[in-house]
Amino acid sequence: MKKIGILFILVVLSVFFTNCAKSDEYIDPRGTDYAGSESCIQCHQVQYNMAFQSSHFKATAPANSENVLGNFDEGSHTFIYDKNTRLVMEKRNDSLYQVLYKNGKEVEAHRFEIIFGTKHAQTSVYWRNHNTYELPVSYYNSIHNWATSPGFPADKPYFDRMVVKDCYSCHASNASSRSVNQSSEEKNFLSMDVEDIIDKKTIVYGIDCERCHGPAKKHVNFHLKNPTVKTANSITSFKTLNRQQKLDACALCHAGNDGMKMKSRFEFKPGDNLSEFFRETRSINDTANFDVHGNQFRLMAQSKCFINSEKMDCITCHNPHENASKNMASYSKICMSCHQGLKHNEKTLKIMPEKLLADNCVECHMPKKASGAIKFQLSNSKQLSEYILRTHKIGIYPMEKK
Ligand code: HEC
Ligand code: HEC
Ligand code: HEC
Ligand code: HEC
Ligand code: HEC
Ligand code: HEC
Ligand code: HEC
Repeated sequence: MKKIGILFILVVLSVFFTNCAKSDEYIDPRGTDYAGSESCIQCHQVQYNMAFQSSHFKATAPANSENVLGNFDEGSHTFIYDKNTRLVMEKRNDSLYQVLYKNGKEVEAHRFEIIFGTKHAQTSVYWRNHNTYELPVSYYNSIHNWATSPGFPADKPYFDRMVVKDCYSCHASNASSRSVNQSSEEKNFLSMDVEDIIDKKTIVYGIDCERCHGPAKKHVNFHLKNPTVKTANSITSFKTLNRQQKLDACALCHAGNDGMKMKSRFEFKPGDNLSEFFRETRSINDTANFDVHGNQFRLMAQSKCFINSEKMDCITCHNPHENASKNMASYSKICMSCHQGLKHNEKTLKIMPEKLLADNCVECHMPKKASGAIKFQLSNSKQLSEYILRTHKIGIYPMEKK
């Protein structure tokens, strides 16, 4: 009798503990094929440490006082629309807000909820009725200050720009949306009865390991069970992909946004062909001026280096787990791996002596250019400021004295 009692208790306890373990287990919003980046650390510490610091991992994140850029202290926390209207960046308890004042009275306040970006600029969104809306003022590193979010007016505040799923498809690893019936007060005669809302719980912030490598739960389980196997199982190896497939894995988010969409970017896995996701409206050989913002692929594809080498891709110059290197000499080494015995003419060498030239290929052949798509305005200014990035169209540009 006693034995059965103990046995019973043991059974109850074991059921209890297995359930506990189960509820502790990470469940990825993308489904049971996904393991989540944390699970990679134990076997890929090096890649994890690098990628975790990268802009990719920080492309979106829940806003908090550590990751929101910009000044919230008096002196430089105010954007003035006109003498009666001002927007103030305020810290209230643990939260950050953009607060609109008219004639000194608070009119509305919106919380920084999700950040987009860290390197050149950062824009944030707030939640309203299960959708996200861009805050009217963003932070720009080039001026170390607040200015209008791209495309926003500088003479009146605007809180109604919805940040749709498309933004998340390039800046996050998942965001599911669903259609809901609109409440009667939101309904109007022109719009339809249903609208898409983003399900907050399904957002996987940043561009994580499985966003680039595809679902890896099987891979993780296999290697946990078979620790002696040292060759990769159940994961797509980039080494087995052809050039176009490798390019597509980056071009998914680095080739602009003007193709006709056929499938969601979130469905893309390494090895897939981008041509099944977008129908191109412009040819790759197009002489069009692609924007330096968000279109590295098409600019690179216009270069003779890309066309004639038949092997250049993004990984030629970038470690996919790290940010772009700030060391320009390191890129020169890559240039010279294809351009040995290179001779510049007298005129060029007068502008820059050979020794200096050797470390600065990028300065002349991939110069910085202003984006045509992104411009911003400072508080109290009529003038548009430029957003400057390096072009990926490698070529010979008109020379100025450096
Ligand atoms: C239990 C150990 C283990 C875990 C956990 C693990 N991997 Fe691996 N992974 C391996 C081994 C072993 C290899 C093969 C040797 C190597 O390339 O490091 C490998 C190789 C890889 C490769 C290279 C494939 C190739 O051939 O080019 C990728 C990509 C990869 N893993 C991604 C991931 C991702 C993403 C995660 C997390 C979701 C993950 N791994 C978790 C053990 C693991
Ligand atoms: C799911 C979309 C997505 C994919 C796929 C993607 N990127 Fe990115 N990448 C981004 C976004 C968004 C940013 C800007 C992140 C930020 O600063 O907030 C970025 C930034 C970068 C940067 C600049 C980082 C820095 O701070 O210097 C490089 C370099 C880069 N990507 C290269 C690549 C390469 C190479 C690949 C393919 C192996 C790739 N990306 C695939 C979306 C993507
Ligand atoms: C922006 C896309 C991107 C992200 C994010 C990313 N990888 Fe990779 N990873 C790649 C590409 C592309 C390669 C192939 C590199 C090559 O062939 O030189 C690669 C290669 C690897 C390899 C093979 C060994 C190596 O370093 O070349 C491993 C292992 C790996 N990644 C694991 C991870 C893990 C773990 C994470 C998350 C912490 C991660 N990757 C995040 C694109 C990415
Ligand atoms: C087609 C993919 C794509 C879409 C769609 C997209 N972005 Fe980006 N975004 C990028 C890439 C790639 C970069 C970084 C490199 C660059 O500027 O070319 C970037 C950069 C940014 C940056 C600056 C990040 C930094 O660290 O400097 C912000 C802010 C940003 N995007 C916000 C948005 C918002 C908001 C939306 C939706 C309205 C959006 N993006 C839509 C690909 C995309
Ligand atoms: C993978 C090999 C490869 C790499 C890496 C490479 N190039 Fe090239 N590049 C070529 C080839 C091939 C050509 C075409 C030569 C020809 O057809 O005469 C070329 C052409 C050029 C041209 C002439 C362009 C024109 O429009 O006339 C310049 C300038 C140039 N490269 C600079 C660079 C710089 C700077 C880098 C580094 C940022 C670089 N290349 C990296 C292979 C490469
Ligand atoms: C020939 C070398 C080379 C190739 C190939 C290359 N890049 Fe770059 N990339 C650079 C250089 C140089 C920079 C500028 C770094 C800087 O100024 O800090 C850069 C910067 C970037 C940035 C950051 C933009 C900025 O100004 O902060 C992104 C994003 C990027 N590259 C994406 C890509 C993608 C995607 C591909 C493939 C389509 C690619 N790159 C191919 C050399 C290259
Ligand atoms: C001071 C600016 C400057 C720097 C730095 C520079 N170049 Fe050039 N490059 C030019 C100009 C201007 C031309 C066209 C006139 C000439 O050939 O000198 C040119 C021409 C070229 C050509 C085409 C040559 C041909 O015969 O078609 C290549 C390839 C090239 N550069 C590669 C490089 C590489 C690789 C580096 C770095 C080691 C580099 N350049 C550094 C300005 C520069």
